[in-house]
Amino acid sequence: MLDINKIRADFPILTQKVNGKPLVYFDNGATSQKPQVVIDAISKYYQEINANIHRGVHTLSQLATDAYETSRGKIQSHINAKFAHEVLFTSGTTHGINLVTNGFAAILKPGDEILVSALEHHSNIVPWQMLCEKTGAVLRVIPMNQEGELIMAEYDALLSNKTKIVTVNHISNALGTVNPIKYMIDKAHEVGAAILIDGAQAVPHLKPNVQELDCDFYVFSGHKICGPTGTGILYGKEAWLNKLPPYQGGGEMIKEVSFEKTTYAELPHKFEAGTPNIAGGIALGTAIDYMNEVGFDNIQQQEKELLHYGTKRLLEIEGLKIFGTAKEKTSVISFNIEGIHPYDIGTIIDKLGIAVRTGHHCAQPIMTFFNIPGTIRASFAFYNTKEEIDLMVAAVKKAQLMLS
Ligand code: ALA
Repeated sequence: MLDINKIRADFPILTQKVNGKPLVYFDNGATSQKPQVVIDAISKYYQEINANIHRGVHTLSQLATDAYETSRGKIQSHINAKFAHEVLFTSGTTHGINLVTNGFAAILKPGDEILVSALEHHSNIVPWQMLCEKTGAVLRVIPMNQEGELIMAEYDALLSNKTKIVTVNHISNALGTVNPIKYMIDKAHEVGAAILIDGAQAVPHLKPNVQELDCDFYVFSGHKICGPTGTGILYGKEAWLNKLPPYQGGGEMIKEVSFEKTTYAELPHKFEAGTPNIAGGIALGTAIDYMNEVGFDNIQQQEKELLHYGTKRLLEIEGLKIFGTAKEKTSVISFNIEGIHPYDIGTIIDKLGIAVRTGHHCAQPIMTFFNIPGTIRASFAFYNTKEEIDLMVAAVKKAQLMLS
């Protein structure tokens, strides 16, 4: 069991007042808060070992390189990748997806098909559309039902020998649906297609095992798992990363350069051009250590209780409707109140110290499916409490009264 007071004391921001009220931070789907150890890891890097990595023979450069590569190793073992060089540092999920779509431009032919799910964030739609424009490939959409679950019979029917890659999130950012990715991975492989899993919303809640899943690519951001913004990971199977061309050209990703011909560095450096976010990459390793110390069993237990309690309490509000009622769901509650624009509720409850996200959550096709402009989304993390949910419910009731 979590000692919630002890956990909350690790996060300095949680003691803040916002608009004169104690902060209730329920926008964890957008970004998580950072524990002191992560904040310290960033300043320690700049105070003690700041130097460029993989370049210098001098001591500081070696210390920085060691710390950065140690962090890569921590991430490798966290996701159970076979090799450290299958773990690429990126600036976030969006960067990881664009790196893959850029690589597939060299592989796809007109008429090839890409399957994308109806539950995707724009960052897992738009890069694939751009890839279709470049290559003449065709984007096909795996539909969902009213609960916000992908329809597996439709997925099976869409798969064919034309399918070259499938892309799907592990967990939906807008609705919290947990997708049956193991099934989807196995099915994609049956037709010889590759599959990318967008794990941005999954990694805060669970520990993905990429070898057991057997996915070809798994991408996520550091800032949603207590790490710094501007950090992320692209896991790719070695064979795929060897096959894809580099994303960016520059320093650090080359073996030899002449004006006649350039050869590329081995993995992972082939995909890591330029000076990376060194402090961020190191602090991401610290964040992963922190999450593992808290323990994913404890995290899941706490979040399950919050989801259950939050759903029950919110449904007490007259005219409130929850979008996303999948059987497998994480601690995200997207809702609207009849006759009131989500933005108005969000603005009023912010004045009462409650931080939620309102709008389309970068998932406009989901909003179009439900025929709504957007939702109010409360996304809970392991450091949230039932008392905070009570404060949110009271604030929403107050806003409803003011607006009706
Ligand atoms: N993708 C993030 C969210 O869902 C920003 O809020």
